[in-house]
Amino acid sequence: MALLGRIILLVSAGFVIFVGIKLSQLSTVPPVPKLENEWWSSGVQSEIDTSIRPFKINVSQEVIKDLQHRLNNARSFTPSLEGIQQQYGMNSALLSEIIQFWKTDYDWAKREKWLNQYPQYKTNIQGLDIHFIRVKPSNVEGKKVLPLLLLHGWPGSVREFYGVVPKLTVPQKEYDFVFELVIPSLPGYGFSEGASKPGLGVAQMAVIFKNLMERVGFDKYYIQGGDWGAMIVTVMSILYPDKIMGMHSNMCNADSPLATLKLVLGSFYPPAVVDKEFEDRVYPLSTVLFQNILMLEMGYLHIQATKPDTVGVGLNDSPVGLAAYIIEKFTTWTNSEWKNRADGGLKEKYSYTDLLDNVMIYWVTNSITTSVRLYAESMSKAMFALGLSNQPVLVPSACARFPHELVYQPDSILSLKYKYLVHTSDLKDGGHFAAFEVPDLWAKDVWVAIEKMERFRQKHK
Ligand SMILES: *[C@@H]1O[C@H](CO)[C@@H](O)[C@H](O)[C@H]1NC(C)=O
Repeated sequence: MALLGRIILLVSAGFVIFVGIKLSQLSTVPPVPKLENEWWSSGVQSEIDTSIRPFKINVSQEVIKDLQHRLNNARSFTPSLEGIQQQYGMNSALLSEIIQFWKTDYDWAKREKWLNQYPQYKTNIQGLDIHFIRVKPSNVEGKKVLPLLLLHGWPGSVREFYGVVPKLTVPQKEYDFVFELVIPSLPGYGFSEGASKPGLGVAQMAVIFKNLMERVGFDKYYIQGGDWGAMIVTVMSILYPDKIMGMHSNMCNADSPLATLKLVLGSFYPPAVVDKEFEDRVYPLSTVLFQNILMLEMGYLHIQATKPDTVGVGLNDSPVGLAAYIIEKFTTWTNSEWKNRADGGLKEKYSYTDLLDNVMIYWVTNSITTSVRLYAESMSKAMFALGLSNQPVLVPSACARFPHELVYQPDSILSLKYKYLVHTSDLKDGGHFAAFEVPDLWAKDVWVAIEKMERFRQKHK
């Protein structure tokens, strides 16, 4: 017995030491990786034109005629099952209605003019022509002008930000600052050129956007993003803390090992991690795998992270297929309950015109395949090897939580990654495409958060 006791003691001690070592490994921070200015265009690096060229969307008649032809000759859709709305994916009756609208009511000439309402430019960064909108504030009135980079995600585009531009570039009397906006299309999205070489993931996009801001003439600036844009702003904050005045994200994600560990341990006792009110958002009650929102909504991600080029073929060849694939996300990601509605809830927050603008940006630029490659490039071994999830964010940070966002992380988790979390908010309305869906709420949160970050910066000079 004495021997057994000693063995148990020894094993226990060994276990405690092992856990201790593991924990200390979890909390040690390796050096921040240094990323090169890689060349993403075909061939070897060559001299580039560093000018900033004004740009207007101007799609040829040929492309529009070809689109009409494809829409008019689409094969009939497979009828949805009886009593089924969006639970199996895009409902065919709803899709028919949208396609009918596209054919008869959606006027591209008009929309093109509308999309060209803000000044747009292209400039070559690391071999790629990068498209961006740049809007200066309307009337500065002695206010400080803060540069702000806005980054969209998938399956979005710069279109998501059109509604918030006037809300951020017109001075507000409560604030002594106003914004100058730079709104790029991600490489491979819309009017920005895609890479010809593998490896352009979120971290490499962070390099491109740092270089873009430098090209435009900004050394220090604020950054904001949702979806992939949220990932990129986090990486930019890690890589370039001396340039980033603060970051605002509407999809903050603490991916550090400690945060993950705390989330897992918290599942045994949620009150240690999250307030009662939001418990279900962190730990969904349903343990049935395919009722969990993440399982229900993440199939696309696995395909795009593994076979982006294959899924891209059909989408790039069929406008109705592309519309179904993209617009489906605007139902369930805006509100997961909308899958139970025949109309997908779409018209509550968007018009078909709004949604088709976004689809058109993918269609006329042939960019769906290059856009979905971002999943493969960001979930690669090479990306994980950079160890960015081990890096804390050391710039002032703000996390807006919209109630229908796919993931929810409470302050207790976020603060493990974002060390200077000066603002978090739980908004009343809105989902994944917050800037597009609820521009007022989104813009108000940006003003409030950036004022807090400005004050924080003053205090910690
Ligand atoms: C679009 O391009 C066509 C053909 O190059 C040109 O005639 C037309 O003026 C352009 N439209 C705009 C708005 O720039």
